[in-house]
Amino acid sequence: MSSDLDSFHEYLRKSKRILAVCGAGLGASSGLPTFRGAGGMWRQHNAMELATPEAFRNHPGLVWQFYSLRRHYALQAKPNAAHYALAELARRRPNPQFLTLSQNVDGLSNTAGHPGKSIEYMHGSLFRVRCMRSWCRYERDDVMDPITPALKVDEGDVERTVGTDELPRCPECKTGLLRPAVIWFGENLDPQTLKRINQYLSRPYQDPVDLCIVIGTSGTVFPTAGYAGKVKEMGGKVAVVDIDCSVRPEQAKDENFADWLFEGDAAELVPKMLYPIIGDLQIPETPPGNVNSKCCD
Ligand code: APR
Repeated sequence: MSSDLDSFHEYLRKSKRILAVCGAGLGASSGLPTFRGAGGMWRQHNAMELATPEAFRNHPGLVWQFYSLRRHYALQAKPNAAHYALAELARRRPNPQFLTLSQNVDGLSNTAGHPGKSIEYMHGSLFRVRCMRSWCRYERDDVMDPITPALKVDEGDVERTVGTDELPRCPECKTGLLRPAVIWFGENLDPQTLKRINQYLSRPYQDPVDLCIVIGTSGTVFPTAGYAGKVKEMGGKVAVVDIDCSVRPEQAKDENFADWLFEGDAAELVPKMLYPIIGDLQIPETPPGNVNSKCCD
């Protein structure tokens, strides 16, 4: 295992197919909290306990306050250099040469202009809502902040009760509440997303992926956490970027899991790592996209 940038650059130059697996650490430098660790708490709630269908059924007002706050801050956040570096790599190495898997729902990769055909949003988006009734197919892009007046984020973020009559309701079936179109714990990922990823990774569709770059994720949520291991099994190499590499579960299991460990802020490290392909990164004055933009290639 190495933290030698030159050896990584040498391998990157030879890599024909690359996969990036990204988590909340990618957005940390844009001011968005991560889930595990200090950022994982909201008021006295563990954020992950609110990200479940049960929590929404039992406490829709509380869950919507949590998501309204996340929407509010994500709309104010700006992509950082790591988002732009990955978007530039995707422009220079279009799918199937490069694919990003993002667990993030903050829309920042879209805002950075990441080509839509070269990124899979594993857990949906804060800026899409859908009816909570499984039989009702209504959904829409939605960047209203707040989505209803009762969900306005007050800076003090004081705990208050929001009744279901103050929450967004499905305009189609008129019975269900609208919910964030994100994947909650206990829910399945979109089968079409999984199918595309498996095709990206599996022979005979493609040559094997040479390099998987794991950026700012604790590697605790599957199936996303398993893709780096798949690349490894097929003879590829793995590079991990994390502010604290010691926390990684697979490191605990297998010291040699990662071929490179780069410890530090993704916003600083990722542009340096990708330099041989993307060159000097130009950060635009104004982000080229928005949280829901689907930049075509
Ligand atoms: N640069 C790089 N890595 C960072 C930075 C940073 N600036 N800041 C934090 N990290 C690292 C942390 O050390 C941690 O390993 O990012 C990782 C974030 O891990 P989590 O908070 O667990 O977030 P993530 O891995 O994205 O969680 C996966 O779990 O809560 C669910 O659906 C949610 O998509 C999320 C999924």
